Amino acid sequence: MTVNPTIQRELPADLVRDRLPRHVAVIMDGNGRWAKRQGLPRIMGHRRGVDTLKDMLRCCKDWGISALTAYAFSTENWGRPLEEVDFLMTLFERVLRQELREMMAEEVQIHFVGNLDALPKSLREEIQRSMAETRNNTGIRFTVATNYGGRQEIIQACREIATKVQQGHLQPEQIDEALFERHLYTAGHADPDLLIRTSGEMRISNFLLWQVAYAELYVTNTLWPDFDRNEFHRALSAYQQRDRRFGKVKV
Ligand code: IPE
Ligand code: IPE
Ligand code: MG
Repeated sequence: MTVNPTIQRELPADLVRDRLPRHVAVIMDGNGRWAKRQGLPRIMGHRRGVDTLKDMLRCCKDWGISALTAYAFSTENWGRPLEEVDFLMTLFERVLRQELREMMAEEVQIHFVGNLDALPKSLREEIQRSMAETRNNTGIRFTVATNYGGRQEIIQACREIATKVQQGHLQPEQIDEALFERHLYTAGHADPDLLIRTSGEMRISNFLLWQVAYAELYVTNTLWPDFDRNEFHRALSAYQQRDRRFGKVKV
């Protein structure tokens, strides 16, 4: 890999290291519009979007952010034209295969959240392989939401819990936030501190509904393929200006 010397590898001087978000989540939106503006088919935007994600992962590592979660495919995205869905599934599989060696070298620990059972078998196998191989890596925790829906995640957690109650393994009074959290796909992961959405849309689109309860939201008009370290810097600067009160008052 060639290293671009103009890339900002050091944490920008105006950012305070111990006030960085530990976990950043991103809704990578605007690939289709980016492609259309260039007069290209939508899929070219998805291809470029992969480069953006790779650089963002490297940037998190360079700047000392310990977890990144990216929304790659929602449960609603199956409603897109078949060719686009097929292209995305093939792209995910190819990128995973190509990037595994570098993820090992960079100590990335990769996770997937979502209903993985409904994905094509060859992609599922690549996902299982990458999770198994990177399991003991100690670097950044990188989570990819694929065939992910926040409502669907909550419903499957309810089903698991209801089954335990029905079988007599759990009393309804024992159901609290901590127990519920352990039945989500993200069990054991800290909630995102900062949620970034590109392309200007002011919505959550069924992403991490439970987990973003107290995340700071940042929306940029920049389309995902154009999102870069300068944009990320701006998002982190904005985050550091926020007063996270968690419903309390400062005394
Ligand atoms: C986000 O970009 C990528 C996925 C949802 C897979 P879009 O494909 O939604 O791009 P726009 O929003 O149509 O521009
Ligand atoms: C959200 O983007 C899903 C992903 C980024 C994977 P969409 O483009 O699907 O969301 P809407 O349709 O604008 O809400
Ligand atoms: Mg979109």
